[in-house]
Amino acid sequence: MIRITLIINKQRYALSINPKWTLLYVLRELLSLTGSKNGCGTGDCGACKVLIEGEAVNSCSILAKNLDNKNIFTIEGLNSNGSLNIVQKSFIDAGAVQCGFCTPGMIITTMGLLNKNNNPSEEEIVEALDNNICRCTGYIKIIQAVKLSVARLMEEKNGL
Ligand code: FES
Ligand code: FES
Repeated sequence: MIRITLIINKQRYALSINPKWTLLYVLRELLSLTGSKNGCGTGDCGACKVLIEGEAVNSCSILAKNLDNKNIFTIEGLNSNGSLNIVQKSFIDAGAVQCGFCTPGMIITTMGLLNKNNNPSEEEIVEALDNNICRCTGYIKIIQAVKLSVARLMEEKNGL
């Protein structure tokens, strides 16, 4: 076992971990942060995505030991002052949530995209979501949810 500190949702966790444990395992099994889903465990579905230093990453495919003192956000940490943030609300309002299993990963991917590009084209949205699998929605409403997020964030930025 080794000692590391993870900064998750702005909270510091001093942990003793097996160097072979993935971040997803640590989140779900040690910290009970179960919003990040274990869909495939092989980096193919995006259900386990978290933000690491602002970038969307599959937490099943990264070892926790490599994340000492990195800033990590899970879906549980995205609310704004206790309310859902704009992207979370947009997914609900666009009807982009059915069973919801893929939704945390979709929202994290959207946040990661918007951190890099605050006005993505539809092509860029589709490309960003390429690693996120949804078995329910057919993706149309998910793409609409990302577009709605962009529009609302622009309105907020422009004080409308
Ligand atoms: S569980 Fe990580 S990509 Fe599927
Ligand atoms: S809403 Fe069910 S997998 Fe996407």
